[in-house]
Amino acid sequence: MLQNKAALHAKAKTSSASLNQYSLETLARPSSILERVHEWRKQGLRVALVPTMGNLHNGHATLVAEARKHADRVVVSIFVNPLQFGPNEDFDAYPRTPVEDKVLLEQYRADLLFAPEVSDMYPQTARPHTIVQVPQLSDILDGVVRPGHFIGVATVVAKLFNIVRPDVALFGEKDYQQLAIIKQMAIDLCIPVQVIGVPTVREINGLAMSSRNRYLNSAQREKAPHIYEVLHAVELQLQQGRRDFAVLEQGASEKLKQFGFLPDYVSIRDAENLQFPSKESHKLVVLTAVRLGRARLIDNVQVALS
Ligand code: PAJ
Repeated sequence: MLQNKAALHAKAKTSSASLNQYSLETLARPSSILERVHEWRKQGLRVALVPTMGNLHNGHATLVAEARKHADRVVVSIFVNPLQFGPNEDFDAYPRTPVEDKVLLEQYRADLLFAPEVSDMYPQTARPHTIVQVPQLSDILDGVVRPGHFIGVATVVAKLFNIVRPDVALFGEKDYQQLAIIKQMAIDLCIPVQVIGVPTVREINGLAMSSRNRYLNSAQREKAPHIYEVLHAVELQLQQGRRDFAVLEQGASEKLKQFGFLPDYVSIRDAENLQFPSKESHKLVVLTAVRLGRARLIDNVQVALS
C-alpha cells in the first residue's frame, strides 16, 4: 500500500515536472518560423498548420487536436489580418485575447505559436503588394457582401503557407466558402499542402462556435441558435426530396427575419463547387449569413443526396 502511494507520488512528480517543462514556443518573425520548421523537416517530421485570428474557442481547439492526428508537429498562427476586413468592418473591435489563447494552446499541446505583428506580415507599406485572388469562388455569397474579403484571406493564407511550408493545413467547415477558396488556391498555385476541412463545432444548443459570438448580448445569444434550427429544417426538407430550392431559400429567409435576424443570404449550392445545384449534384450545402445586432454570423449544413 505504502509502496503504491510512493509510486503514485513519484509518478505525479514526474508528470508535473514534464508539464512544467513544456511551454509553448512563440515566434513573431517569419524567418524564425522558417528556420524552426526547417529543423523539424530535416528530422523527417510532418508539420501541420492551423491558421487562426485568435480569440480561440473549442472550434479552434478541435482543429489543433485534429492536426495532431495528421502530423508530428503542430504550428498555430494567430494573426488578425487587416487585409480581409473592409473599411466599415470590425478590425479594431475584433476580440484579441493573447493570454487566454496561449493557455488553450498549451492545454492542447501545440508545438509552436506564430504570432506576427502586421509589420511582420506586410512589411512593404510604401508600395502595393502582391495579392492572391481566386476568381468565381470569391465573387459569390459572402464575396458579394464583403468585397475584397477573400482576396485578404487567400493572400494571407498563401503567405502563411510559404512561411510555414506545412505538409497539412486544417480549416473549419464553418467557413465553408473560405475552405473551398483555400483548396482551390493551393491547387492553382501548386502549393504542396494537403488542405483538410474539419466539421463545425457547435454549442449544445446548435449555435456554431465563433469569435464573433462575443458581440452578442444575452437576449441575442438566446436567439442565435435559431440559425442552425432554420438550416436544419431546410436539410430535412431536402432529405425528404424537396428540390424547389428557391422556395426553400425564401422560406428559410422569412423564418430568420421572423426570429429577428437580418439575413444577407440563404443559398442552396452544390457542396463540391458552390455553384447552383445541377442534376449531377450528389451533395448540397445550405449556407447563410445573418446580422444580429453588432454581429454578422455565418453557418451552413451539408446534405448528402441519396
Ligand atoms: P478564424 O475565424 O479565427 O478561424 C480560424 C479557423 O477556425 C478557420 O479555419 C475556421 O473555419 C475555424 N473555425 C472557426 N469556428 C469554428 C467552428 N465552430 N468549428 C470548426 N472550425 C471553426 O478563419 C479565419 O480565422 C481567418 O479567415 C484565417 C483563415 C485565419 C485567415 O486570416
